[in-house]
Amino acid sequence: MKKPAILVARAIFPETLAYLSKHFEVESNQADEVLSPSELSMRLQGKVGALTTGSERIDGAVLKVNPQLKIVANMAVGFNNFDVPAMTASGVLASNTPDVLTETTADFGFALLMATARRVTESEHYLRAGHWQKWSYDMFAGAEVHGSTLGIIGMGRIGQGIARRGALGFGMKVIYHNRTQLSPQLEAECKATYVSKETLLKTADHVMLVVPYSAASHHTIGAAELALMKPTATLVNIARGGIVDDAALAKALAARQIAAAGLDVFEGEPTVHPDLLKVPNVVLTPHIASATTKTRLAMAQLAADNLVSYFTKGHALTPLNQVASAS
Ligand code: GLV
Repeated sequence: MKKPAILVARAIFPETLAYLSKHFEVESNQADEVLSPSELSMRLQGKVGALTTGSERIDGAVLKVNPQLKIVANMAVGFNNFDVPAMTASGVLASNTPDVLTETTADFGFALLMATARRVTESEHYLRAGHWQKWSYDMFAGAEVHGSTLGIIGMGRIGQGIARRGALGFGMKVIYHNRTQLSPQLEAECKATYVSKETLLKTADHVMLVVPYSAASHHTIGAAELALMKPTATLVNIARGGIVDDAALAKALAARQIAAAGLDVFEGEPTVHPDLLKVPNVVLTPHIASATTKTRLAMAQLAADNLVSYFTKGHALTPLNQVASAS
């Protein structure tokens, strides 16, 4: 019997590709070209499944010219590149990769928080540039992390992982804001207290953003919110570009309205707002929060397994919507 045809839209691990090739006729993109929407639509012609990353948008326009498509498996937990209602309306199953990246991403949230508060990259640049001539008592003095107040906006699985690290590892007081309050049991496990967004911004020494991107979370942090934060506070965004108004943040950092920021995600990435590149008090990383080899392999495998499970058993392992089954 002919194997179903799928597109793997970006380069992935050769072993994941080999696994997929056992089950599917695979068109791959190991050259890792970033596909424009029209190139994506073209490459999807004749494909019943696709493995995407966060950089491919699956929307009404792509679906309209690919009515044969049955499932798109995103190799990411975030899925703001999917128009899920349009996919559901077209009978296309959507899946993502939750859980397998939770702890790794929470680790990175903490890495970025530490680097930001303790001015790790700023001081490294200074040293590499040959400016370090003598030690001085206040050289790169940063903000305390242990024992301080950590404010988490977005208390899903990754937010909870960060809360546990803060409370249990660093003795931090953890406050959080979320669309819904956690159960008393989860709050106790995370040692986290629910507060309003305003209280969180006014109280936290370190604000961590882990909220999924949607129209409702667009610019969760803009000029008005930055104005509420302490001048000594740091802001870390490991969620998605667009959660923070990057232009407003660059202004606040330049004016030292807040002390520092750590950003792994950007509005319009991979382009970074030019004003962010000019300020020294920001740590910038290229969307790598889940990037350990083990975790990226697990994400690729889960995305692949979603495709395999859908075509062999009629359901995906981690679906985002419900559509009529394949078999
Ligand atoms: C990465 O940003 C992801 O959503 O998995």
